[in-house]
Amino acid sequence: MSGVFSSLTERGGAYPLLLLAPMAGYTDAAMRAVCSSFGVTWTYTEMTNGYGLARGEEKTWHLLETAEDEGPVMAHLYGQDPEVMGMAAGLVGETGRFIGIDLNAGCPVHKVTASGAGAALIRDPERVYAVLSAMVRATQLPVTLKTRLGPSPDRVAIFELLDAAERAGARAITVHARFTSQRHSGDPHLDILAEVKRRARIPVIANGGIYSRTTAWRTFQETGCDALMVARAAIGNPWVFGDIVQSFQAGEPPREVHVPGSGRSHRDLDAIRQTLYRHLEAEKRLLARVREKYHLPESALTPEEALVTTFRCHLFRYLHGLQGSGHLRRHLLDLKSEADIRSAVEACLENEAGFRAKGGEQGRLPNEK
Ligand SMILES: Cc1cc2nc3c(=O)[nH]c(=O)nc-3n(C[C@H](O)[C@H](O)[C@H](O)COP(=O)(O)O)c2cc1C
Repeated sequence: MSGVFSSLTERGGAYPLLLLAPMAGYTDAAMRAVCSSFGVTWTYTEMTNGYGLARGEEKTWHLLETAEDEGPVMAHLYGQDPEVMGMAAGLVGETGRFIGIDLNAGCPVHKVTASGAGAALIRDPERVYAVLSAMVRATQLPVTLKTRLGPSPDRVAIFELLDAAERAGARAITVHARFTSQRHSGDPHLDILAEVKRRARIPVIANGGIYSRTTAWRTFQETGCDALMVARAAIGNPWVFGDIVQSFQAGEPPREVHVPGSGRSHRDLDAIRQTLYRHLEAEKRLLARVREKYHLPESALTPEEALVTTFRCHLFRYLHGLQGSGHLRRHLLDLKSEADIRSAVEACLENEAGFRAKGGEQGRLPNEK
C-alpha cells in the first residue's frame, strides 16, 4: 500500500492528487472511509500525541484505529521531542496500517503549542529538522511535514521550514497557506505557496481555502502544487472531492457563475440520505470496535450517547442549506439517540422535498445540479 505515496511524484504531472486533511474530532476511520469513496487518494488520521504513542497509552492509540474498508491513510502525529517522536514513528510503522507518517507543525491550539509542539515548531526550524530526522531514521515509511507560512505576515518562516524538511529527508511538505496568526480564516497566500513550489525539491501539497472546483483550480493554476488537501469543505460534504476530480478530468477550469441562493444545497436528497447513513453506520462500527479493543477510561456516556455526540457535528453539515436545517441546528443538543438522529434527518429531507416540489428549485441555474 505504501506504493500509493509514490503517486505524488509519479502521477504524470497532469493534475494534482486530492487529499483529505487531518482534522481533530472529525477525520476518524468513518469519515475517512466515506471520503475515500469519493476520489480521495489518501487521508490523514486525527492529530495524535507522539508521547502517548511512545508510552503505549491506549487512550492515544485508539485515535489511530483504522477500518479495513477505508483507503490509504497517513498517520498524523504531533510532538517536539526528537527521541520520543522517533520512538512513536517506529511503533506506528510497525503496525503496517499506514502509508506514511506526517508531523504536525501548524496546530495553533494552546494545549499543543504550550509544550513546544504544533505551531510552536514554526519558530524553531532546527527542531523541526531534528524531529523529522529522528522519525526518518526510525521508520521505512515516508515521513512528511504539515506546516504553515510562518507565525505572522511579518515573519515568513516557510522557506527555512522547507529547507529543514528537505535536509531531514522528509518526502513531501504540506503547506497550509496561512500564518498562525490567521488561524483558519482569511485568504490563503497563494503567491508565497507558488514560491515554495518553485524552490522545493520535494513534492508540495497545497492546503487552505480549497472548497470547490473553482478554488481547487485556482490553487493548482497559481501554485502548480502536486496535491490539493481539503479540510473544512469536506465535513458533511464528501461530494466536494468528486466535483473537483470530475472537473480536473474534464480538463477545463469551471466557469465562475453567480448563482442566486447558491448557499442552499442542491444535492440529490437520496444521495444525502445514503451517504449520511453510511457514515453513521461506519461510526457505529468504529465506536464498537474501539470499545472492544481498547481499555479506555470509563465513560459516562452509553455507546448510543457516544455515537450521537460524535455524529452531531457531521450531521448538521450534511443537512446544511436544506429546509429545516436551521431548526435542526438549534436543537442538535436535543438529539439523544440514533432514532432521534434518523427522525431528524427524515424530517429535514421531507421538508426539503416538499420545498423543491413547490418550485423551490425554480430560479436555480441548470449547472447548479
Ligand atoms: C476542526 C478542525 C480540526 C483540525 N485539526 C487539525 C489537525 O489535527 N492537524 C492539522 O495539521 N490541522 C488540523 N486542522 C487544520 C486543517 O487540516 C487545515 O489545515 C485547515 O483547516 C485549512 O484548510 P481548509 O481551509 O481547507 O479548511 C484542523 C482544522 C479544523 C477546522
